[in-house]
Formats: sequence, structure tokens, C-alpha cells
Amino acid sequence: MEKLVSSWGNNVKALPHNYIFPPELRPGNNLKILFTTNIPVIDLRELENHHHRFQTIQKIIKASEEFGFFQVINHGVDINLMKETRKVMKELFEMGDEYKQKLYSEDPLKPCRLYTSRPTYATDDNLHLWRDSFIHPCHPLDQWQHLWPQNPTKHREYVGACSVEVKKLASRILRLISEGAGLEIEYFEKGGLSGSMLVSLNHYPACPEPSLTLGVSKHSDPNLITILLQDYVSGLQVLHNGQWIAVEPLPDAFLVNVGFQLQIISNGRLQCCDHRVVTNSSDARTTAAFFVAPLDDSFIEPAQAFIDKYHPPLFKSFKYKDFRSYYIAEKGDTEVVMESFLA
Ligand code: OGA
Ligand code: NI
Repeated sequence: MEKLVSSWGNNVKALPHNYIFPPELRPGNNLKILFTTNIPVIDLRELENHHHRFQTIQKIIKASEEFGFFQVINHGVDINLMKETRKVMKELFEMGDEYKQKLYSEDPLKPCRLYTSRPTYATDDNLHLWRDSFIHPCHPLDQWQHLWPQNPTKHREYVGACSVEVKKLASRILRLISEGAGLEIEYFEKGGLSGSMLVSLNHYPACPEPSLTLGVSKHSDPNLITILLQDYVSGLQVLHNGQWIAVEPLPDAFLVNVGFQLQIISNGRLQCCDHRVVTNSSDARTTAAFFVAPLDDSFIEPAQAFIDKYHPPLFKSFKYKDFRSYYIAEKGDTEVVMESFLA
């Protein structure tokens, strides 16, 4: 597969010209930033201790307001399941070219497919990202699982089991956010607001010239909330107060980030935050991003709980599918997207 970066092996000694970003968008020296400002790490076991429950919920709210990102540990998902899922994800990208060719598609309407760079590869300009991705819907599981790859042989089993656990974790976090922010506890379970989930298995092979390219360029997630399973290799950076900060990879943790819809529903109180992925020259990195999203026809607007005389609605009302199409058409440009959904 000549387009897939995971098929190039270690033979590429220099970046092809269409992977070299313009100087102002390159990570350059920002590649080596240390974990100076840490994304908050929140221990969910503390919720069981009634002395610490309130404080823990407040930590989630504060992290969502300040960073739009936090990591959760002791989250209840089996660590061994996480490990096996990571293993099977890596295997997928190590499959032979012939098999990967069968999974590969540039048709954006195909729900389960392997692609490279961006989902819109076929219509993209000539600047590509250093990553391959396999995407498929994963909720409700029985509606989709039979369409998933049959190889690696454990893919359906582990990615399926992990999806179920991650969806439960996402619902739990959304309930905690509701509780902490003063929304009805089941707010996100109604109106299809968290009715769908898509997983993107991202593979960023070791890269010969990481300072010149990106695995994912600067963006915010268009959905409600994202739960990321990472391994030991760092690569994710978050734009915080105008500076890129590196997210420390904690393999037993899940990274949680606020999507556009959560920012809009909370009337701007919780922030979705721009992030990107840098590559490195020694290790491949594989992640699974679980995107919890509203159903296409769900109606999105700032919740009444966030609106009063002093806080008028900052955003319009719309159907989720209209937001999504606009996001894709504008290539996820945060400023342009935000601007056009302002009230
Ligand atoms: C994404 C994303 C981060 C990562 O897929 O939207 O931000 O580390 N991924 O793979
Ligand atoms: Ni993202």
C-alpha cells in the first residue's frame, strides 16, 4: 500500500515533500517540550469516599474549564483489557499490505475503513499527516460489530469489550459533569446527546524527520466528549494559554477531552481545547480515540441551567448533523467553526 505510512517500514530516510509542513505550522523545537504543566490526573476511586466525592467532582469541572482535558485513573476499566486492546490495535497496522488494501477506502461514506492522513484524503490538498487510522462506529455494539475486521482475530472481541467499558465510563463522567455543573444528572442521556460512539484507531509510525511534520494538525474535536486510550509513547500536545503542553502518556489512564458540543451545551463554561499530535523518530505510537457524539438529528443548544440574566446564550441552536457537515467543510478550523455557531 504505497499511501499508508504504516507500510513504508524503516526505508524512508527523509520525508516526502508533501509531508513537510510550512515553517509556521511545524512543531520544530516544540517537539521536546517537557511535561511542565500537567494535565490534571483525577483518581475516580476517590468518588467512593464520601468525604472526597464533592472535591473530586469539582476537580473534573475545574479541569474541563481550564484545560478541556484531564486524565482519569482507577476508572474501573480492567487494566488487562486495556493492554490486550492496545496489543490488538498495533497488530492491525502490522498486517500484510494485501489485507490492509482490502480495508483501505477513500470513500467518506463508508462507516468502517482504513485511511491515511485525514478522513478526507481524496479531496485534500497536497499536505498529508504522518498517520494511518482505522475508524468504525462502536455503539450500539451489536449494530456494528459484524462489520469490523475479522483479522487480527481478537479485534472484534477486545475492541468490542473495550468499547462497551469506555461507553460506560463516558456516561459516568457525563453524569459527574452534570452533577458538578448543576445540570439534571441524566441530561446527556436524553435527546440522543450521547447516542453514538465512533472509535478511531490511530497509528503514528516512527518518523524520520519529526520536527517538520505532524501526526494530527491543530484541531478541537467536533463531538461531545472524547476518551483516549494511549500507550507509553508521548505525542499529544494541548494548546494551553497560547503554549503547547505535552500530555504525559499514562498507559493505565484514559485521557478525557471536552468536545465542541459540550462547550456549546455548557454555554462556554467547559472548554474544548485545540490539540495536535507530534511524531518521533524512535517509536511508533498507537492510540484509540473513542468519540462519544450526539445522534445526527439531536438538537443542540446551551442548556437552560447555564443561562440567566447575566449569561445569555452564547451559541445558536442546531442539529448535530449540520454542525458536523460544516466542521468537515471548513476542515475543522476552530475559529471559523466557532464563529458561525455563535448566537
Ligand atoms: C483525534 C486526536 C489524539 C491522539 O483523533 O482527534 O486528537 O493522541 N487524537 O491520537
Ligand atoms: Ni482530537
